[in-house]
Amino acid sequence: MLDKSLLDWYDRHRRVLPWRAAAHQQSDPYRVWLSEIMLQQTGVKTVIPYFEAFTTRFPSVEAMAQAERDEVLRLWAGLGYYSRAHNLHACAVEVAERHGGRFPDTVEGLRTLPGIGDYTAGAIAAIAFGRRVAAVDGNVERVFSRVYEIDEAMPKARPTVARLTQALVPERAGDFAQALMDLGATICTPKNPACGLCPWREACGAHKAGTMLNYPRKAVKKAKVMRYGAAFVARRADGAVLIGTRPEKGLLGGMVEVPNTEWTAEPAADDTLHLAPLVAKWQPCGTVEHVFTHFPLRLAVYTAEVAVGVAAPGPYRWSSPNGADGEALPTLFRKVLGMANDALSQLKAKLTG
Ligand code: ADE
Repeated sequence: MLDKSLLDWYDRHRRVLPWRAAAHQQSDPYRVWLSEIMLQQTGVKTVIPYFEAFTTRFPSVEAMAQAERDEVLRLWAGLGYYSRAHNLHACAVEVAERHGGRFPDTVEGLRTLPGIGDYTAGAIAAIAFGRRVAAVDGNVERVFSRVYEIDEAMPKARPTVARLTQALVPERAGDFAQALMDLGATICTPKNPACGLCPWREACGAHKAGTMLNYPRKAVKKAKVMRYGAAFVARRADGAVLIGTRPEKGLLGGMVEVPNTEWTAEPAADDTLHLAPLVAKWQPCGTVEHVFTHFPLRLAVYTAEVAVGVAAPGPYRWSSPNGADGEALPTLFRKVLGMANDALSQLKAKLTG
């Protein structure tokens, strides 16, 4: 009964999304996989242009497997959680080389691939291969914890949610999974659920009690502690900027950065400039804040103009002729470059004006 009312609702209100097959059409496993990896920690609106760029450049899993990993990182830049991009490429290589270019069609087979956990394996198995399995993400946790008034906190209650979801999965398992995603994204939203439009309102315990906003219950989170550092944007007269590549392992692994200091629990002392990558007339131009999963970061940004003949100090290189365009530059360092560019333009305008 719950499954039928949800599927009826989905047939009338399903969202049109670029990775979604039309009604009664078979989904392409490659597109389902790519979209699910992108959607793991990122919203639909942000994902759509990245999905289009990836599928244009890599129309198949083989095309992605043949590309250099760096190209995948460059296309991914700005989407965050960069281990996803490393795993994406590793997974493409594995599917192309070990599975003849075809994704495994079971949860167990999919789980063996890089970057595919329980949720993603369930989503691909249901949507691309019609397996009768559940895909439990934060949206599904919210919907089920409201319907069944689950008082245990997440993520502890996740197995309970998984069991309740699995018990409802109908023949149209892929549509059921996507219907739950749409319900969570458009009706059963975190702050202002549109219960009046919900196909499950009659059955929903929290709706009856008016307690929707109390669910899902969450364990108290540890406070996140700010870290501090400084970043140095050296710009040559021809527009090239000094950049480097971050170590393979760790946060923003393999991505591009401008020279910057260690990120510490205390703001840097006044003598930060001795940490700059080269001797120049460094000007402070403000601070950039960025929130990572485990901590917020505040970087003091310094910038300097240098002559075209200045050699790049190791391990850095000059990125030219279009500055850092086309580099695998994550959002944090895009913000830093944006701030430095604004400051240098203002300085120039002052000098010429
Ligand atoms: N969130 C996670 N997977 C999704 C999908 N396939 N469609 C819409 N939203 C999603």
